[in-house]
Amino acid sequence: MLEDKKILVGVCGGIAAYKTADIVSRLKKKGAQVKVIMTASAREFVTPLTFQTLSQNYVATGLFSSPKNWEVEHISLARWADCVLIAPATANFIGKIWAGIADDLLTTTVMAVKAPVIMAPAMNTNMYSNELVQRNINALKNRGYQFVGPVEGRLACGETGEGKMEEPEKIVAFIHSTLNRDKDFDGRTVMITAGPTREALDPVRFLTNASSGRMGYSLAKAAAGRGARVVLISGPTQLEPPSGVELVRVESALEMYMAVMEYYPQCDVVLKAAAVSDYRPARKSGEKIKKSDDRLILEMERNPDILLELGKYKGNCILVGFAAESHNVEEYAREKIRKKNLDLIVANDITLEGAGFNTDTNVAAIIDSEGKAEYLPMMSKSELAHIILDKVAVLLKRQF
Ligand code: CTP
Repeated sequence: MLEDKKILVGVCGGIAAYKTADIVSRLKKKGAQVKVIMTASAREFVTPLTFQTLSQNYVATGLFSSPKNWEVEHISLARWADCVLIAPATANFIGKIWAGIADDLLTTTVMAVKAPVIMAPAMNTNMYSNELVQRNINALKNRGYQFVGPVEGRLACGETGEGKMEEPEKIVAFIHSTLNRDKDFDGRTVMITAGPTREALDPVRFLTNASSGRMGYSLAKAAAGRGARVVLISGPTQLEPPSGVELVRVESALEMYMAVMEYYPQCDVVLKAAAVSDYRPARKSGEKIKKSDDRLILEMERNPDILLELGKYKGNCILVGFAAESHNVEEYAREKIRKKNLDLIVANDITLEGAGFNTDTNVAAIIDSEGKAEYLPMMSKSELAHIILDKVAVLLKRQF
């Protein structure tokens, strides 16, 4: 239920604004408190009176309109909200937030808000597929803004395609799941490994891989946001650690192994997103290796398979592995689930566009221990992180 949840609805200028009236009405029927901000363009489509009547609240329209009380309006609205919905979210609004422009009541409020912000875009299909709009949407997704829709349909401009605002019923359901997933990891300890490992050859050279750490860091941010105590064991990355997580920096696979084993007994969940090097140089030279005219042959030895070791002592801990494959994705992933005694594996085909290392997005399939696979569309790593956590939350609930 949305009983007493405080939902701030921002309405931008688009014909779908008339549908936002239905959203407000549905939210009220579910017991939410609703306040509405309308941009100047939105008021060309629907009047504030419509939203005032439906929300049973004064509709805020401008930074400089006469205040209803003596608080700074955009800050007080930002503080008040448990969740912000922008519907319709226009290309202009999305672009402004991406660029950090705050030039009216809605953009200043969204800039000040700490609660989840959900955007329901609506625009012409060519506008929606425009590279700039897509860049802005992807960048905002990576900063934790959530998007619902748009969907395909007949648009007001007469064209048919993707760009229609998602149906009010679905938007309300999305708000519901966002608010109710809020703290579902309260009291849980989640260990996440992220990034590559570095296997030293000598004091200045090492072997590594192209993992950026983004998937693991997105998981850490999402889990911390959902109330978990997060231990992030990270190989070398360029990323800023999310606030509120316990960061343990490691370099080699052996160091990662030691750190993971130290924290493992405290954990309810382990998400092994790190790209661990399977081998390390058999000898690390104490001095810089000098070149010679001969070939250089490196002898490598196996690193421990950390996840395989964890699988042996699994207990009640939920174990999630990651498989980055270039072929036979599902077959290899299923094999790893069995071999490493996992609850879930997130498999991706790194040959697909938008998947794999060093991208902000991923195209993944989540496979469970019964072998059931769910194929997900391309999405930001932050969205994928929440979907993985949704699945883990279900498994945790089943334990009791
Ligand atoms: N993993 C690990 N320790 C290792 C190697 C991998 O914990 N030494 C974990 C990774 O964090 C990931 C999963 O195991 O969750 C990947 O499985 P793995 O069998 O190692 O796959 P790859 O090394 O990617 O592929 P390959 O099958 O080619 O070895």
